[in-house]
Amino acid sequence: MCGIVGYIGTQQAAPLLTLGLSKLEYRGYDSAGIAVADAAGEASMRRAVGKLRNLQHSLDSAPLAGRAGIGHTRWATHGAPSEINSHPHRDATGTVFVVHNGIIENYAEIRVELEAQGVEFRSQTDTEVLPNLIKRAYDECQNLPRAIRSALQGVRGAYALAVMHSAVPDTVVAVRQTSPLVIGLGEGENFCASDALAILSETRRIIFLDNGEMAFLRAEGVEVFDLESGARRQKEVQQLDWSADSANKGDFPHFMLKEVHEQPAVMERLLHHYADEEKGCIAFPHIGLSREELRGVRRIFIQACGTSWHAGLVGKLLIERLGLISVDVDTSSEFRYRNVAPHTGGAILDSDTLVIAISQSGETADTLAGVQEAKERGLKVISVVNMPASSIVRASDGVIYTHAGPEVSVASTKAYIGQIGALYLLSLYLGEIHGLIDRARMKRRLEKFAEVPRLMREILADDSGIQRAAQRFWLAEHAFFIGRGYGQPSALEGALKLKEISYIHAEGYAAGELKHGPIALIDEKMPVVAIATQGVTYEKILSNMQEVRARGGKLIAVAGEDDEEVGKYADFVLRVPELTESFTPFVVALPMQLLAYHIAVLRDYDVDMPRNLAKSVTVE
Ligand code: AGP
Repeated sequence: MCGIVGYIGTQQAAPLLTLGLSKLEYRGYDSAGIAVADAAGEASMRRAVGKLRNLQHSLDSAPLAGRAGIGHTRWATHGAPSEINSHPHRDATGTVFVVHNGIIENYAEIRVELEAQGVEFRSQTDTEVLPNLIKRAYDECQNLPRAIRSALQGVRGAYALAVMHSAVPDTVVAVRQTSPLVIGLGEGENFCASDALAILSETRRIIFLDNGEMAFLRAEGVEVFDLESGARRQKEVQQLDWSADSANKGDFPHFMLKEVHEQPAVMERLLHHYADEEKGCIAFPHIGLSREELRGVRRIFIQACGTSWHAGLVGKLLIERLGLISVDVDTSSEFRYRNVAPHTGGAILDSDTLVIAISQSGETADTLAGVQEAKERGLKVISVVNMPASSIVRASDGVIYTHAGPEVSVASTKAYIGQIGALYLLSLYLGEIHGLIDRARMKRRLEKFAEVPRLMREILADDSGIQRAAQRFWLAEHAFFIGRGYGQPSALEGALKLKEISYIHAEGYAAGELKHGPIALIDEKMPVVAIATQGVTYEKILSNMQEVRARGGKLIAVAGEDDEEVGKYADFVLRVPELTESFTPFVVALPMQLLAYHIAVLRDYDVDMPRNLAKSVTVE
């Protein structure tokens, strides 16, 4: 929720800090502030409660000058949203300034200890102990790296920090302890931020800090150190291919709608990165396992959370169909407690078994724990991840990036398409390696894949039918989503989208399960979205729809454009192009996402930032 931006260089820091903070506004916050220092170490600070524009007004009327600075958007945890509790926080003498994301678990005892030494606190925050600890340590050793390491030794918690010390005015320090932090490299200037989006308009050369690292940013360069040992670390610089527009809504009223519309481009990017349609071949440059190793795989476990888990369910069907390898899919929070293989302490034992972890953020704690558990059991892990260099990527043997670009809206849309797109290509790749898919079949499949973006654009060009369905059902209190085969994970995902942004209680079911219990809930107040695209179970889903209709349930069918039959049973039909069954999840996702979106808009909810949810869930 909170956001950090830091800058040091040749430009005035304040405008760059507020620009960076504006890119993080989508995360939610209730106050904002910056501290800026000039070359002599003269530092000043400005904070304001409420929207960033309040801080901006204050800075417009009385600007802060200096070429180094740190900024923050705060979402109150310890202490009410007030100016005094806003970041930056400084020590009692006004020498050290700190902005902080995360929580200092033992701040209360540290505070008591500092108070006993005469330190006076101004705020109720956990953060304020940090500048005081750093000041005390610096006074003892007169060395900033050493002071920060020593100050943080007794601090417990998950946090990211940006720090300035008046005695060292040519330096901004960034520290990562679990909460994400990145460094942006410029020419004669450098940045840090809690999210690369904040600095994307200034630089795309990014260093992703690992846990337990601190970076010293100066105008002329950046050095990274291990927080515990103080040893210098060599870091890889990643060139992000994200567009600077990723942090803006453009002409769209919400990020979610913008991201829904970006989905065809995600599929095109996947093809561009991994496939050669002409030659009929696929290559994953960072997969981390040789063709030989993949040929030996007989069993796959997929583990992921939420939408990524739904993508995993689609992946299972694809890999079992096209790669002919048996696949288990678990939510990560359950997977890590399963006894899938004996513990080997990391020694490779079971080379037949592969674990695939799927995550947009690459930071989801449960999924990361699942990867670590798999490694402990001697299993190879490939991750399917959107965010470069994230924790899950680093913990895995290899990665397939989903190339969806940064996803801002909490409700995952384009990342899901990137996941199922990547899994589709992976299933073809495994099929080819296992001798089941020859060049000609591969070529045909890739050509079909290449047609999907155009078909998606057709759906997106006219969503008036989806809007009409939304207007009909936006006051519903409950909804069911049902599907079979590829339609089943799509139904689960449709229900999740609706519930997370519209707060309508929605459940997704394998349509055949309806009569084993849930059908008791069907009445005229229950809308049921049925995924009724053509496929081996088409007739069966029509029967399930009739069961719903016979009990007064209202039906919205998602069906192929040539299907005349389905209209006999449904109150609304949302049309999608007729496609080979394995491609239907790509097009079915769109009306599901848009239905949820339009209903949430009609209910006047915060579409991009639904209540109680975070974009990246870093607690187990
Ligand atoms: C999706 O709309 C959700 N916000 C959520 O279920 C999400 O997919 C889940 O938390 C997993 O996140 P990840 O993909 O970043 O690991």
